[in-house]
Amino acid sequence: MRQVKSCRMSQPHDCFDTLGNDIVSSNPIMLRLCCLTAFSISLLSAQYTGSSACKTCHPSLYQRWSKTRMANVIRDPREHPDAIIPDLSKPNPIYPFTKDDVAFVYGSKWKQRYFKKIGDDYFPLPVQWDVTHQTWAPYSVKAGTDWWVAFYPGDNFKRPTGTLCDGCHSVNYNIQTKAVTEWNVGCEKCHGPGAVHVQRPSRANIVNPARLDYVHASDVCVQCHSQGRPLKNPIEGKYYDWPVGFQVGLNLHDYWQLEDHKLGETTFTHFADGTGHKNRMQGNDFVDSVMYTRGVTCFSCHDVHGTENDADLLKPVNVLCLDCHGPRSPNGPRAASLEQHTHHKVGSPGSECVNCHMPKIEQTIPGVNVRSHTFRFISPARTESLKIPNPCNVCHADKPAAWALAALKQWPGVSPWRIAE
Ligand code: HEC
Ligand code: HEC
Ligand code: HEC
Ligand code: HEC
Ligand code: HEC
Ligand code: HEC
Ligand code: HEC
Ligand code: HEC
Repeated sequence: MRQVKSCRMSQPHDCFDTLGNDIVSSNPIMLRLCCLTAFSISLLSAQYTGSSACKTCHPSLYQRWSKTRMANVIRDPREHPDAIIPDLSKPNPIYPFTKDDVAFVYGSKWKQRYFKKIGDDYFPLPVQWDVTHQTWAPYSVKAGTDWWVAFYPGDNFKRPTGTLCDGCHSVNYNIQTKAVTEWNVGCEKCHGPGAVHVQRPSRANIVNPARLDYVHASDVCVQCHSQGRPLKNPIEGKYYDWPVGFQVGLNLHDYWQLEDHKLGETTFTHFADGTGHKNRMQGNDFVDSVMYTRGVTCFSCHDVHGTENDADLLKPVNVLCLDCHGPRSPNGPRAASLEQHTHHKVGSPGSECVNCHMPKIEQTIPGVNVRSHTFRFISPARTESLKIPNPCNVCHADKPAAWALAALKQWPGVSPWRIAE
């Protein structure tokens, strides 16, 4: 077994084994590990600076990023009057409020929530806007749902965002002072503290997720895109719902545990087969996938600095998968043509990879679902045995699961043994 004898952060090429061989040049995985460990040490003294400091040297990345949803999830309506989607001149029937009550607005894609400042904390109003249906809906996290509900009163105005939300919607939230370096998913949330890099730019003093091993790479995203809880709770007497103390380069696993699930049980967070049941479970799902184990990362498909495509996909959704998949690809699918795999005409919604491998079954608000990220095909047989929705009947909603299962069994190339179970 080779041992690492010396490994200095400033000169990653100074990593030699006990035989004097340069283990880094000969082994890319060692380079990652070596730099990662060294980087973790340097993080302790590192400082945050804010995304605007990155603008001068990375102008095009900054421009693209500044238009993404992640860069704009939280907005102050005084600075961005257009941030509020519904027309507030007509009071809503659930909890009437005016623009002046709103210190912050969160979200724009599926749902929008409104926050009032009381003292040095922010609290969610008990009403939200359903963007898809253009209607108001109540907003209150009910008993028996999220794990933290047991530790908080039912009243929204007793549920501050500092403990329950802000670690995932800001950079460097300080649990003592409640101050942030910036709101929203700034550059340093994914690249680590950047003050030293801004002074003396080098690859050695900033995290590039593309250079991390596959676990740490996707953990850059899993830190926020998951349902879980801190390993140690309460923290200074309060229950937090985000990975307090974590920053990229450290081990997320030392700070955060993914929400537990027992196979066979349908819960608030999981379907009986382990697939996510609610939104923000891309991380929980993806770590359970085959692609994850093959080194595919969240950013193999998403460019979080912003693209023209929905969900910041690297390519339009109907061609994205074909970069790595196709009839002759060793990654599958194993059929002579795509049509023989999908059994739907080319161009039909039923022929799109995502509609069968990423069905919209995870609830973000009642009546609005987002896509699963396990990528496995959920057989209609499981709808009957485990009460999990299957992709066929998401579209063929007028037909029973037994119809879909019977159709599948007719398809050449599909293993009857796998889809029957
Ligand atoms: C003064 C100019 C300057 C500023 C300001 C700056 N960078 Fe850089 N950055 C560079 C240069 C130059 C490189 C390439 C270094 C190299 O290849 O050795 C770089 C590289 C990077 C890389 C790639 C590292 C790698 O391993 O490939 C990342 C990520 C990065 N910068 C992020 C940031 C972030 C985040 C900020 C703001 C906190 C920032 N930069 C601010 C000049 C700058
Ligand atoms: C563990 C991290 C985490 C915590 C804690 C968290 N969020 Fe989020 N939030 C996310 C992520 C990731 C997304 C994007 C994915 C999604 O919407 O499921 C998001 C999205 C949102 C959106 C926007 C959705 C849209 O349609 O545009 C709103 C609104 C929101 N969160 C509100 C809250 C509130 C309120 C809390 C606290 C009660 C909270 N979040 C706690 C990570 C978190
Ligand atoms: C949500 C996480 C996230 C945010 C926010 C983010 N990045 Fe990145 N960045 C990544 C990931 C992941 C990679 C590696 C994959 C890639 O190149 O897209 C990366 C790669 C880079 C690189 C090296 C690759 C290249 O194209 O040169 C630079 C430089 C960089 N980011 C700068 C920035 C700057 C500056 C900001 C803010 C304006 C920023 N990033 C915001 C996740 C993020
Ligand atoms: C600090 C927490 C945080 C981190 C880290 C983070 N995200 Fe997000 N992400 C969010 C929030 C919050 C939203 C919701 C934005 C909204 O709806 O307004 C979001 C939204 C998204 C979206 C949906 C964008 C859209 O326009 O529909 C994608 C895709 C995404 N994130 C991917 C990633 C990937 C990939 C990474 C890792 C490289 C990552 N995120 C890291 C918090 C985070
Ligand atoms: C193999 C490709 C792939 C990988 C890997 C992947 N995603 Fe996605 N993601 C997609 C596609 C495709 C969509 C759907 C976009 C659409 O419907 O237009 C999506 C949608 C999303 C959305 C928006 C919610 C929705 O359902 O529309 C978020 C947030 C997101 N992904 C985050 C992540 C995170 C975080 C990871 C890693 C833990 C990840 N993704 C890994 C392909 C991928
Ligand atoms: C960056 C390359 C890459 C991209 C992009 C990609 N895949 Fe994969 N995919 C792989 C690899 C590698 C495997 C593993 C193949 C193996 O080892 O047999 C895989 C396996 C799979 C499998 C079979 C394993 C399972 O989980 O059941 C499915 C299904 C799948 N991918 C669906 C998709 C879909 C849908 C998309 C687009 C949203 C996509 N992939 C995009 C690389 C990719
Ligand atoms: C109409 C539904 C449907 C569509 C659309 C679909 N698949 Fe599949 N896919 C399946 C079924 C069913 C299986 C078999 C699942 C099993 O054996 O557990 C499968 C299996 C796979 C596998 C595993 C290897 C194999 O051949 O069994 C891969 C890889 C895959 N699909 C990729 C894709 C890609 C890429 C696309 C888009 C071009 C796509 N699929 C579109 C239903 C679909
Ligand atoms: C995204 C929506 C969508 C999904 C997912 C989907 N289909 Fe379809 N399906 C269609 C549409 C649209 C047609 C009409 C003909 C066409 O486009 O090929 C169709 C046609 C069919 C037909 C022939 C016409 C009929 O109604 O008898 C069968 C059988 C069928 N689908 C079975 C399935 C099975 C089994 C699955 C799951 C493996 C599935 N479909 C998944 C949309 C979908």
